[in-house]
Amino acid sequence: MTSDPAFIPLFRPSIPNPERAAEAIAKVLASGYIGEGEVVREFERAVSMLALHSILATSSGTAALELAFRAVRRRDGYLRALVTPQTCIATAAPIVNIGGSIVWCDVDQKTGMISGETVARGLEDDRFRSRQPINCVVGVDWGGRLAPWAEIRRVVDDARPLGNRPVLIQDAAHSFGTAFSDDYSGDLICYSFQAIKQLTTGDGGGIAVRQFDPSDDDAKAVAKAIRLDRWFGLDREAGQSMRCDQKPSEIGGKYQMTNVAAALGLANLEGFARRSMRRKKIAEAFRAASCRFSDAVPHEPGFPKHAFWFFPLLIAGEAHLENDRDAFIAHARKHGFEAGEVHRRLDVMPGFRFAAENPRAWLPGVDAFSAAQVAIPCRAEMTDDEVERICGGLWRWRT
Ligand SMILES: Cc1ncc(COP(=O)(O)O)c(C=O)c1O
Repeated sequence: MTSDPAFIPLFRPSIPNPERAAEAIAKVLASGYIGEGEVVREFERAVSMLALHSILATSSGTAALELAFRAVRRRDGYLRALVTPQTCIATAAPIVNIGGSIVWCDVDQKTGMISGETVARGLEDDRFRSRQPINCVVGVDWGGRLAPWAEIRRVVDDARPLGNRPVLIQDAAHSFGTAFSDDYSGDLICYSFQAIKQLTTGDGGGIAVRQFDPSDDDAKAVAKAIRLDRWFGLDREAGQSMRCDQKPSEIGGKYQMTNVAAALGLANLEGFARRSMRRKKIAEAFRAASCRFSDAVPHEPGFPKHAFWFFPLLIAGEAHLENDRDAFIAHARKHGFEAGEVHRRLDVMPGFRFAAENPRAWLPGVDAFSAAQVAIPCRAEMTDDEVERICGGLWRWRT
């Protein structure tokens, strides 16, 4: 880090109108109802309209993921997840915390994300590992770019392992604000509205149920079960009876969003679409300045499948030397902006070595991607001068 005020950091909270945010929070504080209430419902309606599917608000993205894993465990009585290791600890930690098991899945070496091919290999390799088949597949939309969910869905549909079809859990912590289409999404979609995400509620998240088993009715029932699981198994929408009179048949957890967080989120939604467009415009400039040495972002007019939480680069020197990336990070610093690895691979962390069933899996895609990946800032709030400075740094890399 640096104390130079002109230095451009990778992330910074996006609070476009602090006065309005303070006013909205003050109103909630004065209302006497600061926990989960009507303001959370309003936030849910607003983000659902933007995302084009119904989102249940949660206390964090991690909470949303844990609710998703609990839903899978409720269905099958166990949890065995085929998971990308190229992600945040928060993607896999809830699996460990609820007693599930992890099987690492390789990723595409260019995108850093699971693909039809890597999932097919992961399912095939697991065939004789356990009598309980893998029952969910977990991928992250790296940097905000949607993973190839349609292709992954086809593989999972075709694989038909014994037992229920594995549920596709989309860790969309980076990708709120992408265009939604059935083709682009998993079955359970988990968002994060944490401090430095494109939309922040301070800390917060959301979960959407697109399908579970392939029937709409089933999705509705699962969404209702998740809603109850979010708060001890009790129905907060059943009026005053919510605390004492209900006798839940299944005991849930405590994962709900508060009115205070929702008020901040609602205030920050103002101008969200405009800021999303701005990120894409900045990304277009960065792509042009970096395509000579990095092909991490393919050209796509308007980038409908990318929300650019950051702009990803692949700094692959000869034989993917780690110090090539270090040199790039130093080069960026010299040009006044931050570059860095946002998440490091999980499979080499001692804590996960014990939790994974295949701790020493052969993951060539993860090896290549994790040695080369680096992120640079792509925040909507950056000025044109700042964008130009970063472009200048990119043009000058290794010239
Ligand atoms: C890939 C990924 N998944 C999950 C999370 C967890 O989200 P939260 O911090 O809202 O719990 C994060 C947070 O950055 C993340 O990057």
